[in-house]
Amino acid sequence: MMEIKRLLFLPVLFLSVISMALLNLEKSKHAGEHMEYQSYGWFRESAAWDAKNRRFVVSFMEGGLGQIGEISKEEFTVVKDGDYAGNATLGLEIDLPRGRTLVAVADLFGNNYSALAAYDMATWQRIFLVQLSSTGGAKSLADDVAVDAEGNAYVTDACGNVIWKVSPEGSMVAVISSPAFSSVPAKLPFNLVGLNGIVYHPGGYLLAVHTWAGVLFKVSLDGQHVTAVNMSSFLVMGDGLELLTPERLVVAGMPSARIVESRDDWRSAKLTHRYVGPMHRGATAVTVKDGKAFVSHVLGLGLRKRTHLITEAVFKPVSL
Ligand SMILES: *[C@@H]1O[C@H](CO)[C@@H](O)[C@H](O)[C@H]1NC(C)=O
Ligand SMILES: *[C@@H]1O[C@H](CO)[C@@H](O)[C@H](O)[C@H]1NC(C)=O
Ligand SMILES: *[C@@H]1O[C@H](CO)[C@@H](O)[C@H](O)[C@H]1NC(C)=O
Repeated sequence: MMEIKRLLFLPVLFLSVISMALLNLEKSKHAGEHMEYQSYGWFRESAAWDAKNRRFVVSFMEGGLGQIGEISKEEFTVVKDGDYAGNATLGLEIDLPRGRTLVAVADLFGNNYSALAAYDMATWQRIFLVQLSSTGGAKSLADDVAVDAEGNAYVTDACGNVIWKVSPEGSMVAVISSPAFSSVPAKLPFNLVGLNGIVYHPGGYLLAVHTWAGVLFKVSLDGQHVTAVNMSSFLVMGDGLELLTPERLVVAGMPSARIVESRDDWRSAKLTHRYVGPMHRGATAVTVKDGKAFVSHVLGLGLRKRTHLITEAVFKPVSL
């Protein structure tokens, strides 16, 4: 009898400790402005602020896109595309000049399929869907996307460590590869997530982070020049990227967000600020709204519906 009581007691104690810990962690979200929204899904990989329509566009790990109004705080599904059913939608980019959203599509578990999809943001009609993975069976994982001034899209492959360059109409795909992408990761015992977050810098190049190695790369748009940004520390577990200014890059991940600054056009950079948010939610992406960085978290919590969080990154300087 005593044994049974003990067995019953343990899980209850365990659960209470866990929920107490989670509630304590949740308090940290109130440090700044935040958007808490209701959804039916557990996992939301990315959120981007649509400054024109004042809404967040979010990508569903189960595939699809939603929008969250500033007032309603409810997730409303705008895209559910049967042509890649079974795949996840991951990093997304709002291309305001062309009024469209581009999103990386990937087979998260099998790594057999990667694609880029573009949707018109007025009607949510699809503009194009282009397969990026080879049909030869090489493993791939389209993870994040950036768009340059001409409308070319750049999609990172977290599995194959290349960047796919897709023309504005989605008709042509080139592969940007470099030994630099794997020079640091090659020294590591294993490699969980490779090239991940990517942004277009107005200076006319790309910045992309290798999550597992914690290395930031500067990449020319034609892919001819790839260099590791010289940093005194590694940006380990860096995920989504967004520029606050041309000199200040926000890196989402663990901790929730970091700022790295460069004064020499991203030949070198240094870590200057940190934001520790609700870590148990897993920060995956960052977007800029009204000049401030907002971090989206992958995990929703709740019983009937899930509550998801997008929090303002309240940065603290890093003491060196
Ligand atoms: C992803 O989409 C492709 C294209 O429709 C499909 O062939 C593939 O089976 C899908 N992957 C999964 C895991 O469902
Ligand atoms: C997709 O990936 C899974 C897991 O690696 C594998 O078992 C399966 O055979 C793959 N499917 C195709 C069509 O290649
Ligand atoms: C990186 O920066 C350090 C410190 O400024 C410098 O000593 C080093 O030579 C630089 N490395 C490269 C490859 O530029």
